[in-house]
Amino acid sequence: MATVTFDKATRVYPGTEKPAVDQLEIEIADGEFLVLVGPSGCGKSTSLRMLAGLEDVNGGAIRIGERDVTHLPPKDRDIAMVFQNYALYPHMTVADNMGFALKIAGVNKAEIRKKVEEAAQILDLTPYLDRKPKALSGGQRQRVAMGRAIVREPQVFLMDEPLSNLDAKLRVSTRTQIASLQRRLGITTVYVTHDQTEALTMGDRVAVLKDGLLQQVDSPRNMYDKPANLFVAGFIGSPAMNLVEVPITDGGVKFGNSVVPVSRAALSAAADRGDKTVTVGIRPEHFDVVEHSGSTSGALSKDAPAGLAVQVNVVEELGSDGFVYGASKVSGEDKELVVRVGGRSVPAKGSELHVVPRADELHVFATSTGERLTD
Ligand SMILES: Nc1ncnc2c1ncn2[C@@H]1O[C@H](COP(=O)(O)OP(=O)(O)OP(=O)(O)O)[C@@H](O)[C@H]1O
Ligand SMILES: [Mg+2]
Repeated sequence: MATVTFDKATRVYPGTEKPAVDQLEIEIADGEFLVLVGPSGCGKSTSLRMLAGLEDVNGGAIRIGERDVTHLPPKDRDIAMVFQNYALYPHMTVADNMGFALKIAGVNKAEIRKKVEEAAQILDLTPYLDRKPKALSGGQRQRVAMGRAIVREPQVFLMDEPLSNLDAKLRVSTRTQIASLQRRLGITTVYVTHDQTEALTMGDRVAVLKDGLLQQVDSPRNMYDKPANLFVAGFIGSPAMNLVEVPITDGGVKFGNSVVPVSRAALSAAADRGDKTVTVGIRPEHFDVVEHSGSTSGALSKDAPAGLAVQVNVVEELGSDGFVYGASKVSGEDKELVVRVGGRSVPAKGSELHVVPRADELHVFATSTGERLTD
């Protein structure tokens, strides 16, 4: 087992000027499950391939444990990789597929059989060892690909979207299996996905990349509760966080007919940047739906209803709760908002709601730079 360090690792592809991965800095603990996530083209596979030795590193260094592996060939790094297209050998049995790397490495037959049987037990593949891959389900094939990596007992597992060939339901069950297997084996793992739900559910920590630049590395809980900037705020969470540009007023921000208090520090940080507005983030579950009468505290005028009026366009009923997709006018601009409501109080399509964000759940970002301003 080992730690993994990306020390300002940079990759510039030949013929390009902008780095595909720009000074990536992450320290991954021994036994940790780290997920790299971000939109297509952000540099996830490039980062993983640099760690695997399949891609040159043009700046910085990569270490596994104390070893500087920056310029070592893949075979000397003691890693095993599972790809999206895991391409099992169709003419070989499951057992032979799993043991192939050991056979190439010259391990004796009895030893290979022992390791394959152990791995098959862990992966629930024992009954299938003599079958050919075509006689397996997608999820079973996926586990054979994992088995090929496990038998090698590497210091580090690398996985690049290993579940993307599976259907939605199988993805969910397989991701739980992989996560619990990794915890049992305790092998340091770097896992790539573009799916933020997968990232949050599987990772001990999650690293978000955008345009080759690391945005934030954090626990799933912190990533959700304290996104470091507007990009992470919009990327992590489903349905996405509502992001609304609002004017700064004395002691807070003006949100429709309400003033929502915001810390002095955040407001003065915005002023320091010369901003007249801030961009507030509100998760769908952090709105209070208020009565239509003007009696609710926080209303600017006695007659006007508090908060922001939302015209309900679409309601998504999920049984336990529901999501309202509605249109609103914020500071004169049309804005789509998503509001979570209780499953037994879903409003009708076409009706109007008034919503106020909970002040203690408000995220505040600088409109000009996108940085988080609240703690
Ligand atoms: N061999 C290459 N030569 C030139 N540019 C490349 C090469 N491979 C990747 N790139 C570019 O580097 C950037 C990062 O690519 P990468 O494959 O790492 O993205 P990714 O995050 O894995 O995306 P996806 O989610 O689509 O797999 C992209 O802009 C891509 O076009
Ligand atoms: Mg990729």
